Amino acid sequence: MSVQSETKRLTAADLRVRKGAMPIVALTSYHAHTARLVDKHCDVILVGDSLGMVMHGLESTVPVTLDMMILQGHAVMRGSRRALVVVDLPFGSYEASKEQAFLSAARVMKETGCGAIKLEGGRRMAGTIAFLAERGVPVMAHIGLTPQSINVLGSFRAQGRDQADWAPIEEDARAVAAAGAFSVVIEAVAEPLAARITAEIPIPTIGIGASPACDGQILVLEDMLGLSPRVPKFVRRYADLGPSIETAVENYAVDVRSRVFPGPDNVYGMKSAKPGA
Ligand code: KIV
Repeated sequence: MSVQSETKRLTAADLRVRKGAMPIVALTSYHAHTARLVDKHCDVILVGDSLGMVMHGLESTVPVTLDMMILQGHAVMRGSRRALVVVDLPFGSYEASKEQAFLSAARVMKETGCGAIKLEGGRRMAGTIAFLAERGVPVMAHIGLTPQSINVLGSFRAQGRDQADWAPIEEDARAVAAAGAFSVVIEAVAEPLAARITAEIPIPTIGIGASPACDGQILVLEDMLGLSPRVPKFVRRYADLGPSIETAVENYAVDVRSRVFPGPDNVYGMKSAKPGA
């Protein structure tokens, strides 16, 4: 008999029907502790491959491996109870064939218990998205700026700022929706185009540097908390934790060096000796 948790987790199907309704709130998390905080307020927690840059100081998401995603996906599942947890398939784990994508997605879902995966690409990934969706893998697509393609793109540049460039991005959006993705992240796309795509396609759009008209919004948690040294224009900082952390660490170092820490409250005394012992 299975033991059911008391809190019902949101599913990809729950998210799918949120199109045009209450905006979907999404953030990234890579750890159990931050997942616990994010879970209280968000519908979706994305274990993004941005962890390569944020946790490991890499230059791009390209070196991130499936094992790295699974380790952090598992941590986020342990820290959360209600949000739909979506785990990114990293570069090189899904592009070679539909079968490769299914094996990677199945490993991620079995080993983390997450409810969906995300992969980058529009028309070129439509066949793979359909293959996965038909085999029980809920897929969040990701179009517009696709950071895993940095070595082809050359820079992290906003997309669709000339109307002449709109058609391929719109075709990408239509293709992933028709293939069976349950939602699509639209990253760094000109605002009017993101709004137009949102009105056109039947699945929820999750914007990052896109449009307030999108069906939901996502940010990288460390960016909005002020922990990332450089952030794109589309990030709004809701806290500035970097300086607070630095001040705390500085105060700790002063206290240790002057033997003020640990204080009497932070050490263990002896148990009082039992009579006759
Ligand atoms: O990896 C990530 O964090 C992402 C978001 C920026 C959408 O893909």
